[in-house]
Amino acid sequence: MSFTRVDDIQLAYTDTGMGLPVVLLHGYPFNRSLWTEQVNALSNSYRVITPDLRGLGESDAVPGAATMNRMARDVAALLDQLEISRAVVGGLSMGGYVALAFYKQFRSRVRALILADTRAQADTEEGKQKRFEQAEKARAEGMAGIADSMLPKLLTPETVSKRPEVVKRVRDMMLKTKPEGAAAALRGMAERDDQTPLLAKITVPTLILVGAEDAITPVGDSEQMHQAIAGSRLVVLENAGHVSNLERTDEFNQALLEFLQESN
Ligand code: MLT
Repeated sequence: MSFTRVDDIQLAYTDTGMGLPVVLLHGYPFNRSLWTEQVNALSNSYRVITPDLRGLGESDAVPGAATMNRMARDVAALLDQLEISRAVVGGLSMGGYVALAFYKQFRSRVRALILADTRAQADTEEGKQKRFEQAEKARAEGMAGIADSMLPKLLTPETVSKRPEVVKRVRDMMLKTKPEGAAAALRGMAERDDQTPLLAKITVPTLILVGAEDAITPVGDSEQMHQAIAGSRLVVLENAGHVSNLERTDEFNQALLEFLQESN
């Protein structure tokens, strides 16, 4: 793991393997360890970069909103420092919001897109309000309550009852998250743009993955992106919820490897 200075913060990241650069952006309230199995599967053939997004993991948190545009600019600054001009950019959930914000700001730097368990729409007014309440809750009470309420929405009931190691992994990531970083990410997600108009302008190869039982960004959101992004591929992973890369790791990695091979 390495650190680099990006404007006002120290950003933590890993940079593993050689070849076509692939940047993987984690969701909320997680960190780069979300991608351990994908780094292991891809780094024999690709250079895989996994940052801890602003405020999360071991990257510094600053007060205010960590917007998706700001996080995307952090990723661009990291790529500058690593002397990478163009990369495959992928993200899961909030990481997907950042990947779309990155495409909007730096489209010439995107070789291909991977959008996992994510959506293009902005929050509704009610959704925004809930984010602000959650941000206050995180700051006042810490992450335990948030972890308990999110867990059943992140994983399928079957995973929750039969795969304690996956449950522990997801819960531990949430509990390790700095409450002030979680609050900043929540405010940033509430402020995010509606990227629906961007979808028809995406001209790079795009892989869309979603768990068939995703309760946070349901299959319909992915179908909408698939219909709007010309030539995109949609993979629906059976028996998976929102954190589909942890619930169906082999199938997720297989889809990534096939897509990367074709886009290389
Ligand atoms: C995530 O997994 O990144 C979040 O659940 C996304 C969201 O809350 O919209």
